[in-house]
Amino acid sequence: MDSQGLPTPEDKTDFVRTMFDAIAQRYDLVNRLITLGLDHGWRQRAVSRLGLERDSLVLDLGCGTGDFLREMTRAGHPCIGVDLSFAMLLAARTIHAPVIEADAHSLPISQGTIDGVISGFALRNFTEPKRVFQEVARILVPGGRFVILEVDQPSNPIVRFGHGIWFNRVVPLIGALFSDAAAYRYLPRSVAYLPGANEMREMLVSSGFTAVRFERLQGGLAQIIIAEKRRDQR
Ligand SMILES: C[S@@+](CC[C@H](N)C(=O)[O-])C[C@H]1O[C@@H](n2cnc3c(N)ncnc32)[C@H](O)[C@@H]1O
Repeated sequence: MDSQGLPTPEDKTDFVRTMFDAIAQRYDLVNRLITLGLDHGWRQRAVSRLGLERDSLVLDLGCGTGDFLREMTRAGHPCIGVDLSFAMLLAARTIHAPVIEADAHSLPISQGTIDGVISGFALRNFTEPKRVFQEVARILVPGGRFVILEVDQPSNPIVRFGHGIWFNRVVPLIGALFSDAAAYRYLPRSVAYLPGANEMREMLVSSGFTAVRFERLQGGLAQIIIAEKRRDQR
């Protein structure tokens, strides 16, 4: 662990896997409480940003217990989930979507076979985001979209203050009451891993993406990042 209580890059993937294995059983309950159910609308919007026809194949990266997989099934997309944590996959309530235990940094999926990739609240858990973006670019068809849903920082100072108290004080308390205290102390700290908008754009463009855009949700409680695989990229 470093001085901020975050795992070192060498330990991060194992740390993340062990942590999600430990909280998998209560993950859905705690998630509903800490997002106050707002995540449902954010997910619907993220799925719509894939801009895909029904029957297009979508991969959910870091699918966890499958909230996005269920949303995509409802939207008519065949989908596959990938996650590092076997316990999260065991807790997944997915009826039609197959799930694979794998690391996003090295996906067991052939080049150019997936129409769209979506990822919810997993980005800050990746050890090397750029390597993950290169993997996503590899498996997407040319022109295929990559949509990321993540937490954000509200721009209004009053909302930012209230959000800070909720995220840094209340969320760890709810986590400690219903699940694992250490894991829900890590959650607000892990925001430190999120790349800024310029760095994010640069990493995506140099990994083979274009048309990168950001959408802020509810004044910055969350954000959606959308990018398209370059059409001249195989
Ligand atoms: C905060 S949870 C989000 C789960 C789900 N996407 C959702 O929106 O509720 C992050 C998920 O990403 C997974 N994850 C983290 N690092 C990963 C990696 N390198 N490869 C695959 N999955 C990963 C974790 O195991 C966990 O299930």
